[in-house]
Amino acid sequence: MTQDQWTAVDRYFTDLLAPADEALAATLADSTAAGLPEIAVAPNQGKLLNLLISMLGARSALEIGTLGGYSTIWMARALPADGRMISLEHNPTHADVARANLARAGLDKIVEVRTGSALDSLPQLEAEGAGPFDFVFIDADKVNNPNYVEWALRLSRPGSVIVVDNVVRGGAVLDAETDDPSVTGTRAMFELVSREPRLDATALQTVGMKGYDGLLVARVVA
Ligand code: SAH
Ligand code: DHB
Ligand code: MG
Repeated sequence: MTQDQWTAVDRYFTDLLAPADEALAATLADSTAAGLPEIAVAPNQGKLLNLLISMLGARSALEIGTLGGYSTIWMARALPADGRMISLEHNPTHADVARANLARAGLDKIVEVRTGSALDSLPQLEAEGAGPFDFVFIDADKVNNPNYVEWALRLSRPGSVIVVDNVVRGGAVLDAETDDPSVTGTRAMFELVSREPRLDATALQTVGMKGYDGLLVARVVA
């Protein structure tokens, strides 16, 4: 099995089930043109987030790690017209690109992109009484994954769903000896989730255009 094959199969699924429209295509093009890294979720992964939100009937969503707003658009499109989404981004350039992309997609009434380090913004959200959020997507600096899951719990309710991206990283998650903070952060997150009685979770390995990676899906049970 090769990367070319994974990419070709992703393209096959995506062309049939999650085709780009003008707003999505322009979001990726403008993100690249602005120099943002090309690490957005794949189209079929964005569609998965969109479907999870639809299936839950979620009315609110929180994203940690906006980049150019590509995953944000997939998620916000599944919210009702009076739904609300907040996406946290510490890089002001990324946040500006995302705001323009969301406006072009007609989602600027639903989504607020908040600039700042997520660990500063999350307590602010709590202080403002934001939430509980029905859906939380964690996709920022992986070293803080345990902190983000803790905050997701504080800002959610029983029935909320939390998804964490990039939890496999080519199998690096298995390396207990690593000093890569992304891996130690993700491993600490798995240990936290496994011990946390308020969460019921699973994790899946994925292959596709983004290589060999995976995601964690958790339901807040209490
Ligand atoms: N969710 C996006 C991809 C996010 S990439 C998508 O799939 O389309 C990760 C993003 O997290 C980057 O834009 C990075 O600037 C941001 N980020 C990294 N550390 C952060 C922090 N501490 N607080 C907020 N955002 C952060
Ligand atoms: C990286 C980050 C992501 O969120 C992702 O989906 C892929 C790669 C990265 O930091 O390399
Ligand atoms: Mg990611």
